Amino acid sequence: MPPVTKAIIPAAGFGTRLLPIAKSIPKEMLPIVDKPVVQYVVEEAVASGITDILFIISRGKRAIEEYFHSLPELENELRAKGKSAELESVERLNSLARIQFVWQQEMRGLGDAVMHARSFVGDDPFAIMLGDCILESATARPVLGQLIDEFSSKQASVVALQHVPQEKVCRYGIAGGTMESERLMKISTWVEKPSIEEAPSQFAVSARYLFTPTIFQTLAETKPGKGGEIQLTDAMRALLACEPCYGLRYAGQRHDIGNKVDFLKANLHYALQREDTAAELRAYLAQL
Ligand code: G1P
Repeated sequence: MPPVTKAIIPAAGFGTRLLPIAKSIPKEMLPIVDKPVVQYVVEEAVASGITDILFIISRGKRAIEEYFHSLPELENELRAKGKSAELESVERLNSLARIQFVWQQEMRGLGDAVMHARSFVGDDPFAIMLGDCILESATARPVLGQLIDEFSSKQASVVALQHVPQEKVCRYGIAGGTMESERLMKISTWVEKPSIEEAPSQFAVSARYLFTPTIFQTLAETKPGKGGEIQLTDAMRALLACEPCYGLRYAGQRHDIGNKVDFLKANLHYALQREDTAAELRAYLAQL
């Protein structure tokens, strides 16, 4: 199988859990300290060896496109004023990867969004990275890179898994299967947002996926499922009849920016790690 160099970032959803702000600011553009969420996602992709990225966007998500597009007037101004650090921070965005955009016209679900990437992906293996989640690696290898390493050794699709408490299984795609090692599960089923009783385990799909292009064949045959939407999870279950698939308990933690408390926690988490913000913020928190 060729190396994994393509990633798609679905970012078309409304962000209903973050209204009213998400009405006109894409949730993927919300700042974590001074960078939008989606920049963390793109940087994870690039650090994992991805060179080509396709965003799937929709009405109201144009800000993502503008963010990764060069703005010569601003760059010239910063250059003329000798603001080299600022200039570097914006110029970097133009050269991170080759980035393209496609529109999902109707909100028909994650599976439908992914279908929009079919011609971009062609016959290559590819990653899906949900644009509203930051995955912070606990090792030097980014989380997507960890998936790529397993993909290379197994030559099969690999999905990021996270163990979640029982009461939260109904929020996620849930894996069923057998553990081949402490970190790797050989998958036998996937269920989208099951009840506690239906859940085959407490291992949840965690915003990063690595697939062979066969997923497009099963997606094309997937009928609307949970919530009347075309669910990627249903296509993943159908994929198991054609190919093996693995789930990886990655080393790291997930920051889900799509809900208010986790968004705020992520800001504190990153700000407390940064030299320019940590000391003042820590002092402020201590006096609360
Ligand atoms: C989506 C997927 C779900 C997955 C989750 C987090 O759900 O449908 O299977 O577990 O992302 O990666 P959503 O958060 O869009 O409701």
